[in-house]
Amino acid sequence: MNTAEVRPYRTRAGRYRAGRALRLPAHRASSAMLAGAYPFLAAAPSDIGVPVGVDAFTGGLFAFDPWALYDAGELTNPNVVLAGVIGQGKSALAKSLALRSIAAGRTVYVPADPKGEWGPVAAAVGGTVVRLSPGSGTRLNPLEAAGGRDAHASRARLLAAVAAVTLHRELRAAELDALDAALTVAERRHPATIDAVVDALASPDAAAARADDLRVETRAADGRDVAHGLRRLVRGDLAGLFDGPSTHTLDASAPMVVLDLSGLGSDEDALALAMTCTSAWLEGSLAAGTGKRWVVYDEAWRLLRQVALVRRMQSQWKLSRALGIANLLVLHRLSDLDAVGARGSEARALAEGLLADCSTRIVYRQESDQLAATATALGLTKPERDLLPLLPRGTGLWKLPRRTHVVHHVLHEAEVAVVDTDAAMRDTAGGGSDAP
Ligand SMILES: Nc1ncnc2c1ncn2[C@@H]1O[C@H](COP(=O)(O)OP(=O)(O)O)[C@@H](O)[C@H]1O
Ligand SMILES: [Mg+2]
Repeated sequence: MNTAEVRPYRTRAGRYRAGRALRLPAHRASSAMLAGAYPFLAAAPSDIGVPVGVDAFTGGLFAFDPWALYDAGELTNPNVVLAGVIGQGKSALAKSLALRSIAAGRTVYVPADPKGEWGPVAAAVGGTVVRLSPGSGTRLNPLEAAGGRDAHASRARLLAAVAAVTLHRELRAAELDALDAALTVAERRHPATIDAVVDALASPDAAAARADDLRVETRAADGRDVAHGLRRLVRGDLAGLFDGPSTHTLDASAPMVVLDLSGLGSDEDALALAMTCTSAWLEGSLAAGTGKRWVVYDEAWRLLRQVALVRRMQSQWKLSRALGIANLLVLHRLSDLDAVGARGSEARALAEGLLADCSTRIVYRQESDQLAATATALGLTKPERDLLPLLPRGTGLWKLPRRTHVVHHVLHEAEVAVVDTDAAMRDTAGGGSDAP
């Protein structure tokens, strides 16, 4: 069997020892697969970045680094979407990319780990795991952005998104005004907190209301539902987690930081809200730093079912580009995005905008009823689309703007124990369920 010699980047002293040369077995594909994928043989070799695995058609090394490829003019942005059915190795790929990128000097953040599967990865590189669960005493204030010109606007977007999710509807213009005014009041104290915003919604600032030609009673009425929506974070099932000053600051020197949400139960709305709040806290902290950083949204489909959260994420991504951040969005299927709205709707356009913001698209095996939607959403050609149901575990279609590869992700023996979610499922009988 052929082997491809892979020399990853030099490691930081004593950090991650997979810096040794890896010996990767060449991939073997069935003739059906090879025939189906013949058009890709024209793809150029890809050896910029950290090793990922073996190009199924050339047998050569496939490497990836969104920043290097962006600098080389291969990508229009560093963001990546990774889609595929459960159990195909999406998380394993994300974890390998994380470990190997850290060895190359990058930093990795996982703003929300609902299944608690990233802790071992952080442990392997001497990173930090922050566990959030009711009664844990750990609190993260999502309004604690690092400041800057857009801080007020991004806090307002976060609060509007949270209220829209808990109220199950979009906010009206007058409600957004009331929210903005209440946030301005809460910002007089540092740090602003969600409980201060809820208080200010209930008792609005009279002078600010007058300045907007409103009676204070009208402003209070405008803010009533929003206050009710935000109270879920103050008194409801998420109380104590996001409603006051943070008990934790981001360790900027840690190679990896994971926010473990596995203690939060299984209510989908609560989890989506918590994921939004933890990512807002993280994004606020990241704005202060520099350097090339991955932000990995594993299980992102939980967020993307809610248009308000898609909207917030999209504007956040626009800001992240300037900060050297590459976002990795992990989904099951592209119809997760369809759930936010019908074709032609504003919501749908937002979801499509988020995909357009990912110039690298990695597609793992898809169910046959998903093929058409996936091909349309990602602009796949017919041979690319026909390949999707045939892909074995660990193998994906990598679609870059100018070339496509089929890549078998090769796990290093030192990574296997760290990424094995099958073992976690065996250990916690019935646990670790992988929802719909
Ligand atoms: N490239 C690979 N080679 C060997 N095993 C793999 C590979 N990718 C994933 N696996 C194994 O498959 C299992 C499921 O992978 P996981 O990444 O959790 O799937 P997903 O996130 O797509 O649901 C894990 O136990 C992992 O060890
Ligand atoms: Mg996974």
